[in-house]
Amino acid sequence: MKLIDGKAVSAEVEFETLSRIEALNARGITPGLAVILIGEDPASQAYVRNKDRTCAALGMHSRKFELPASTTQEEVMKLVRELNADPAIHGILVQSPPPKHIDEHAVTLAIDPRKDVDGFHPLNVAKLAMEDPTAFVPCTPLGCQRLLIAAGIETSGAEVVVVGRSLIVGKPMALLLMAKGKGGDSTVTIAHSRTKDLASVTRRADIVIAAIGRPKAIGAEHIKEGAVVIDVGINRIEDPSTNSGYRLVGDVDFDAVAHKCKAITPVPGGVGPMTIAMLMSNTVTAAERLTV
Ligand code: GUN
Repeated sequence: MKLIDGKAVSAEVEFETLSRIEALNARGITPGLAVILIGEDPASQAYVRNKDRTCAALGMHSRKFELPASTTQEEVMKLVRELNADPAIHGILVQSPPPKHIDEHAVTLAIDPRKDVDGFHPLNVAKLAMEDPTAFVPCTPLGCQRLLIAAGIETSGAEVVVVGRSLIVGKPMALLLMAKGKGGDSTVTIAHSRTKDLASVTRRADIVIAAIGRPKAIGAEHIKEGAVVIDVGINRIEDPSTNSGYRLVGDVDFDAVAHKCKAITPVPGGVGPMTIAMLMSNTVTAAERLTV
C-alpha cells in the first residue's frame, strides 16, 4: 500500500506557482485573491484562514471578507461587483455553503468568469465539459487529478467510480477524468445517495473517488483488492481526547480499507492541501490572463 502524500504534492504545486508569481512580480503585478465568508461556520472559518495563510506565504495579495450571517443578498452582490471591478483582485471566491437566505446561484452568476477561480460559473462549467483549456476548473477535483498523476496512477482506460454528484467535486471530477489526455481517458461512473447497492458499483472500480460528506461511509466491502482510493471527505467528529475536542476524518474508513489498496490518500494530509494549492494556482492563472 502506498500512501499518497498530499502535503508533498501540494508543496510541488506551490513551488511551481511561486515561480509564476515571481514572473508577475517582475512586471509589477501581485496576484490578488478575495475570499468572502458569510456566517460563522467553524469549518468554513478554518478553510478561509488556511487560504489567507497560504496567500501570505506565497507573497500574494489577499483580502478576506468575513460577513455576518445577517448579510443580505444585495450586500453580497454589491461586494462581488466591487471586486469584479477592482484591478488588484484577480480571483474571487465565495465560501460554500452560504446561509440559507442567500441565493448562491445568483452570487455565482454575478462573479466575473475571468475571476471565477472556483470554476463554479456556468461559463467555466461549460468550458470544462467542452474540454476548453481556458476553463477554470474547481480546485478540489483538479487537486485529486494532480494527485493521481503525481502518484503515477494510470487513469487511461481505468474504471473510476466517483461517489458524490456535487457541483464542487463530483460532477467536475467526472468531467476531468473522462476528458482526453493525461489524468483522463477513464471510464467514469458517478454514484450518489440514491445509487442502489453502492458497494457492488464501487467494487468494480480501479479508482474510487469518495466525495460523499459522511464520515467513514466507504468501508472494506466497497473496495476491490488493489484499487486506488482518493478520499475527499473532511468531516469533524467529536473526540474529547484532543485539544480542540474534535478530529478530522475522511469519507473512507481508512483503517478498514488501507490494507486492500494499491494507494490511498490520508485525511488530513491528502486532498485538503491540494485544494488550497490549486486555488493559488488558479488565482495566478487569472492574474496572468487579466494582465496580458
Ligand atoms: N466549500 C468547500 N469547498 C469549497 C471550494 O472549493 N470553494 C468554495 N467556494 N467553497 C467551498
